[in-house]
Amino acid sequence: MKNYIKITALFMFFNLALLISASFDTSDNERKPYIVYMGELPEWSGKTMEDHHHDILSDAIGDEKIARESKIYSYSRSFNGFVARLLPHEATYLSKKEGVVSVFPNTIQKLQTTRSWDFLGLTDDIEKTKRNPKGESNLIIGVLDTGIYVQSPSFDDKGFGPPPPKWKGKCAKASNFTGCNNKVIGAQYFNLAGSLDEQLSPVDTEGHGTHTASTAAGNVVKGASLYGLAQGTAKGAVPSARIAAYKVCWSVGCQDMDMLAAFDAAIADGVDVISVSIGGPARVYFEDSMAIGAFHAMKKGIMTVCAAGNLGPDTSTIQNVAPWIFTAAASSIDRQFETDVTLGNGMTVKGISINTYSPTKQMFSLTSGTLAANSSTGGASYLNASECEEDSLSAMKVKGKIVYCLGSNGQDTTISENKGAGIIMSGDDSYSDEVAFSYLIPATVVNQKDGQNIDLYINSTRVAKGIIHKSRSTNMTNAPFIASFSSRGPQSISMNILKPDIAAPGLSILAAYSPLVTLTGGKTDDRFSIYNIISGTSMSTPHVAGAIAYVKSFHPAWSPSAVKSALMTTATPMKVKPMEAELATGAGQINPTKALDPGLIYEMNPGSYIRFLCKEGYNSTTIRTITGGKHLHDCSTLRGRGFDGLNYPSMQIQLSPNSTKFSASFFRTVTNVGSGRSEYEAKVMSPQGVSVNVVPKKLVFERPHQKRAFKVVVTGKFGEDKSQVLSGSLEWSDSIHNVKSPILICKTFYQQ
Ligand SMILES: *[C@@H]1O[C@H](CO)[C@@H](O)[C@H](O)[C@H]1NC(C)=O
Ligand SMILES: *[C@@H]1O[C@H](CO)[C@@H](O)[C@H](O)[C@H]1NC(C)=O
Ligand SMILES: *[C@@H]1O[C@H](CO)[C@@H](O)[C@H](O)[C@H]1NC(C)=O
Ligand SMILES: *[C@@H]1O[C@H](CO)[C@@H](O)[C@H](O)[C@H]1NC(C)=O
Ligand SMILES: *[C@@H]1O[C@H](CO)[C@@H](O)[C@H](O)[C@H]1NC(C)=O
Repeated sequence: MKNYIKITALFMFFNLALLISASFDTSDNERKPYIVYMGELPEWSGKTMEDHHHDILSDAIGDEKIARESKIYSYSRSFNGFVARLLPHEATYLSKKEGVVSVFPNTIQKLQTTRSWDFLGLTDDIEKTKRNPKGESNLIIGVLDTGIYVQSPSFDDKGFGPPPPKWKGKCAKASNFTGCNNKVIGAQYFNLAGSLDEQLSPVDTEGHGTHTASTAAGNVVKGASLYGLAQGTAKGAVPSARIAAYKVCWSVGCQDMDMLAAFDAAIADGVDVISVSIGGPARVYFEDSMAIGAFHAMKKGIMTVCAAGNLGPDTSTIQNVAPWIFTAAASSIDRQFETDVTLGNGMTVKGISINTYSPTKQMFSLTSGTLAANSSTGGASYLNASECEEDSLSAMKVKGKIVYCLGSNGQDTTISENKGAGIIMSGDDSYSDEVAFSYLIPATVVNQKDGQNIDLYINSTRVAKGIIHKSRSTNMTNAPFIASFSSRGPQSISMNILKPDIAAPGLSILAAYSPLVTLTGGKTDDRFSIYNIISGTSMSTPHVAGAIAYVKSFHPAWSPSAVKSALMTTATPMKVKPMEAELATGAGQINPTKALDPGLIYEMNPGSYIRFLCKEGYNSTTIRTITGGKHLHDCSTLRGRGFDGLNYPSMQIQLSPNSTKFSASFFRTVTNVGSGRSEYEAKVMSPQGVSVNVVPKKLVFERPHQKRAFKVVVTGKFGEDKSQVLSGSLEWSDSIHNVKSPILICKTFYQQ
């Protein structure tokens, strides 16, 4: 894959198109896969589940033989449901049946070094970083992705004992797959539709899954680099932990039905954390495969970390927003890849890219798209030669030359096809100097002003020459900041839950890669590497999953919400743009070592989510189906208290665009996880025009695990200055700990 960010964006459109075509489809005679979600497993289970699903399906279709042919899969290990090819009226019929929570079409979602862990303070140095290798080795990180390349040195199992006894997972047998070891203890694939053009195997032929798994839990590998770039020690957060890979993404993307099958397996297999670098448009929770899978994981004490999405910097683009999901935005580390260009006149210009190529000559001829236009097509108004569009250039005028092109949108393919020696692109927006991509040929992206100067030089001489140097790493002194591509809030499903939750490195991350694919994924690329540098919220997700495992290695008994709270309240606040604030960063950048000792935690258990769902308007019957058990919860008495109805470690008020005044109460309970006696005082930062009143202002604890409740009343109004975001915070502080929660007030942003 050449360019994850752009590709992800493209797939989002594709995905939306699919959703739209599903709802406007008038052809009622074509069966399509639907997921029939039936909540928690019934008390009885086992083989009879399949029969039960068959009976329901036969009743809906009215023909047992067609029902048998239509059924694709039964979910029965961790939750209840099935996938079948249905006609729209059959889907509607099923959705009204007792015991069925929802019926929704199977959509396709998309995938959205190791400097990064040192940057976060998780070093190899045992003097500096507390480690619990024994605790780590009992932890299993489940990764839903493109599979895994087990032979990577990052997954060598030297020194690893057998899998922890709780492990119940499998290792698929397949040709071209070497099997598992004591590091990668599980590897399965899910391709329920059975596309014929794929190798049915957990092997990673894309690189993405190998990259994410090694970021979370790869071994310490010295001397890792991409062709000498980013030379250093590659490692995961928890090098002694185990990995279970679930391949759910194929060349078409990642399908809901395959993702749910992987959740069904991973939860029952005994993983401790699930990392999913996949996203699609936010949907109501129980018609969303990620929210459903993560909900049942949460019930079993497993935290699911998901990517915030790569649709930033626009607001309201955030994905994977359920409160039981840990949603990761992408931040920068302090390293950038610069690729310089030297011109024949001696001028040197800085650009951004990952260029592994060392020049073979001192200078190459230099031209621009405008000058290299194909006179028979380049003049056509629909082809823009200055931007080096496909078919706009003359192969003769490009061959062997470096070409300067306006904009940067993957024109390296065109220059490569025309046998050009390299490409200089000029960024077309203010943030194109942020993400360094790999290209098929020597390439760099310069800013617009430098681009104009290069163009002027080319115009000024008949013998323009230039050279693109190999990249070098430089220090990004303004780190950490949120990557522009990282999706922003506010979210549209639960208006008053702040998403993203947290930020972690996702810009130019070096991690293990699959040598079964070229660096860029391009067919004409002949570079292969077992380490690669890529960017995306896909990369930040396993950083958070790894940090969870790191905290769990010291606190194995902590619930998913306790670990999440510890990571959120100890995160480092980041520099933000006033219009985005925490809608881009969440609580801030993770600080795993600090999270080991948070002082206080905000806990949520399955019961908290029942009260939350009552508050969100789900009725008792639906909630019982989702959460299981005989008991019918009475939502009129169980409704979660306060503005958001949940003991969340952050607070958000989302207003309609026209409102200016607000007043909201948040009810919270903190649990003392510090040592014994302590006194915490509330410190409030309130933005102008906002009053934040905390009652009581002091919390006294006599012993560990004691709980204390308090109330936060936020009142105020937006000023005349058209601001849309007001950002403050509450910090509980004894002399040792600072337990910080963002308080964000925003207006709903409308997307065109
Ligand atoms: C194994 O992998 C090679 C190289 O990727 C491919 O050419 C071959 O078809 C694969 N074999 C099978 C049985 O999938
Ligand atoms: C210019 O475009 C025409 C039409 O696509 C093509 O046939 C021709 O080969 C191109 N010329 C060069 C020099 O690339
Ligand atoms: C260079 O020359 C081309 C062709 O005449 C023209 O379109 C372009 O604007 C010139 N570039 C600059 C920076 O003046
Ligand atoms: C970048 O600079 C900062 C501050 O000067 C320093 O702490 C950090 O180690 C540097 N990083 C690299 C990669 O050189
Ligand atoms: C609960 O909600 C579901 C789905 O909206 C609906 O079909 C059902 O009739 C409701 N049940 C009650 C008891 O209101």
